[in-house]
Amino acid sequence: MNWDERYREPGFVYGTAPNEYLESVVDRIPQGKILSLAEGEGRNAVYLAGLGYDVTGVDGSAVGLRKAVELATERGRIITTVHADLSEFKIEPQQWEGVIACYCHVPSAIRIPLHQAAVWGLKPGGVFVLEAFSKEQLSYGTGGPQSPDMLLSLDELMQELKGLEFIHAVQRERDVREGSNHTGVASVVQILGVKKFDPPRENVLT
Ligand SMILES: C[S@@+](CC[C@H](N)C(=O)[O-])C[C@H]1O[C@@H](n2cnc3c(N)ncnc32)[C@H](O)[C@@H]1O
Repeated sequence: MNWDERYREPGFVYGTAPNEYLESVVDRIPQGKILSLAEGEGRNAVYLAGLGYDVTGVDGSAVGLRKAVELATERGRIITTVHADLSEFKIEPQQWEGVIACYCHVPSAIRIPLHQAAVWGLKPGGVFVLEAFSKEQLSYGTGGPQSPDMLLSLDELMQELKGLEFIHAVQRERDVREGSNHTGVASVVQILGVKKFDPPRENVLT
């Protein structure tokens, strides 16, 4: 997938409204700093900045992040963007009140250490929010990666996110209408977790 090419198309591939699941749980995230993994074109970062959060969005697409900054400017918001590959992005420990991952589909070799680092990166009491396609999404045909390795299972996620207390951890069907690429009934996983302890550090980038 060439994300720069996709984001060069006119308009916003996932729209400019925030992810619906994030919107439904945002009041659980303490005010402060939020790190958004795979932020893309800025819809979630700009929404969170509008609620007073200090948001940093990281993504591998420079084109997406440029659009994110333009969207923020247009709405009178300030966001920080970091152009980086998530396989190399270092998350400093205990820095963030919130970490969000909306449709952050990367190979498991990247995702597992990333999730461990994300839990490490949260301050105690910080909140992790995730929505993404489940492995069952392959049979729905309504968007998402075609590689099972890049799709999520709740059991695997809960292992990868050790250190969180799970307030909400479900796999469910929902009608996703978030831009032209995610349209229709889909199988998603959703996580809302609060940081309780630092997980083992064996896979975390140092
Ligand atoms: C499905 S889009 C989701 C964008 C955004 N989170 C949203 O919900 O609107 C996936 C995003 O992951 C980013 N991405 C994929 N692999 C990546 C990697 N290895 N490092 C950094 N970003 C990556 C892409 O550039 C893209 O913006």
